[in-house]
Amino acid sequence: MSIEQKIKELLDKRVEAKLGGGEKRIENQHAKGKFTARERIEMLLDEGSFEEFDMFVTHRTRDFGLEDQLYLGDGVVTGHGTIDGRVVYVFSQDFTVFGGSLSETFAQKICKVMDQAMKVGAPLIGINDSGGARIQEGVQSLAGYAEIFERNILASGVIPQISAVFGPCAGGAVYSPALTDFIVMSKETSYMFVTGPKVVKTVTGEVVTDEELGGAMIHGSKSGVTHFVSENEEEGLMLIRKLLSYLPQNNLEEAPLSVCDDPIDRLEDSLNYIIPENPNKPYDVKDVIHSIVDNSEFLEVQRHYAPNIVTGFTRFNGISVGVVANQPKYLAGVLDINASRKAARFVRYCDAFNIPLLTLVDVPGFLPGTAQEYGGIIIHGAKLLFAYGEATVPKVTIILRKAYGGAYDVMSSKHLRGDINYAWPTAEIAVMGPKGAIEILHSKTISKITDPAEREAFISKAEEEYKDKFANPYNAAKYGFIDDVIEPRNTRFRIIRALQALATKKDVNPPKKHSNIPL
Ligand code: HXC
Repeated sequence: MSIEQKIKELLDKRVEAKLGGGEKRIENQHAKGKFTARERIEMLLDEGSFEEFDMFVTHRTRDFGLEDQLYLGDGVVTGHGTIDGRVVYVFSQDFTVFGGSLSETFAQKICKVMDQAMKVGAPLIGINDSGGARIQEGVQSLAGYAEIFERNILASGVIPQISAVFGPCAGGAVYSPALTDFIVMSKETSYMFVTGPKVVKTVTGEVVTDEELGGAMIHGSKSGVTHFVSENEEEGLMLIRKLLSYLPQNNLEEAPLSVCDDPIDRLEDSLNYIIPENPNKPYDVKDVIHSIVDNSEFLEVQRHYAPNIVTGFTRFNGISVGVVANQPKYLAGVLDINASRKAARFVRYCDAFNIPLLTLVDVPGFLPGTAQEYGGIIIHGAKLLFAYGEATVPKVTIILRKAYGGAYDVMSSKHLRGDINYAWPTAEIAVMGPKGAIEILHSKTISKITDPAEREAFISKAEEEYKDKFANPYNAAKYGFIDDVIEPRNTRFRIIRALQALATKKDVNPPKKHSNIPL
């Protein structure tokens, strides 16, 4: 063969590989409103930056007629490229080849990029669109999944791992995304379930659609499995690019510093008036967040799940920061099982990747009741407590209004190694709210007062006394539990100063194999 022929052979093979399962199946993919594996990679990465590996790999199965069905690449596109000029490794499952099902060689291709991402310390992004284990292969396919799982586990806390789910994701296949840091699902085309609707019907008799069982909004709002729900695939891929801008390449690096054109000493007068006079009236803590961060930009994580706590990434003077904020607008910002789990995972993520934490506190306590107790609020609430107490990144806390009971302790208090703890003048720091406190402290007296008006007058006087004592930040300030009471409108500047002071913070936990967080 002449060199020209050899080059032509190479180029022909490339064309063949790029066609995946063929034109017809690509058309089917598009007809379902989905992009192909390669189109997704192109949208995700910087233009022209993708370098592909293993384009010529084929499966080794010789049963079920598969020996005659060899597709170059074997159903997954892998390699590396850049996002905003930073290296990332990527795999993208190709539904046009055996429904993106995972074979032994398919898994080996994924493991190769995972291993290299770990060696160079670069994020890994997996785009999932697959019918699960390749049925014709049996145990090799199952082994392939487990090889990926093990790598997901070892890479956890070392490099950022992000999963997009843009198609079916069934059976054990859901567990690789579940082991990664963030999942993005696209509305209407993404499904995740351990067993699909048919199996559900056979086993439990329940009739349910794909969407109802494991669609994007179900996992975004009910199960909390997915962190982001996008309107479509393109939006989901842009979201991944944005998310990465807040993250370091690995756990030994800091997140990139952005240029900040928002004045650091910008005063936000509206914040002086944002807390309603009536302590039972809500306000939107996201208004506070938007008004203090750089250019109002905030990437919310798990927006639809447990909205009584808000988590997300932002920047202060260009520094990447993870924000956790109680949301008085939902359930008065109470801590319940879901909110505790959501925030605990977020705090641990930020801590693993050197991202400072800002905690905005307005919390009436933990949600009481049998539903919460039977659901294990003790163990789930302990997760958040544990996560904050274990975190060694810079921790800045601002108490905006209520900080009652155990929730005061949990929300990055001084006693859990909070570094800089401020309070607004509207802060109320106490074991519980006035109403509950008076009922407990004076129950005997109250029960003896028969006249309703007299009883009301007694309660209201006792509540006033209690408020005078505790409905302010100064009692806590007296003990040094908060470092200063700050003017709300100056919050942005005070946070930036705090972060600057803490930039060189070093703190360690005692040596151990690993902690035993209450799972
Ligand atoms: C081999 C598969 C396949 C699989 C799909 N295909 N799934 N081939 N192994 N797991 C093939 C089909 O034969 C078809 O081939 C092509 O992919 C497209 O599939 P369709 O069914 O035509 O597409 P669609 O109607 O969109 O349905 C997609 C689907 C369905 C919902 C994913 O194919 C499906 O239910 N597949 C099986 C899912 C499943 O139960 N997987 C095993 C899960 S258990 P042609 O040639 O017609 O294009 C598991 C264990 C993992 O994964 C354990 C890890 C610990």
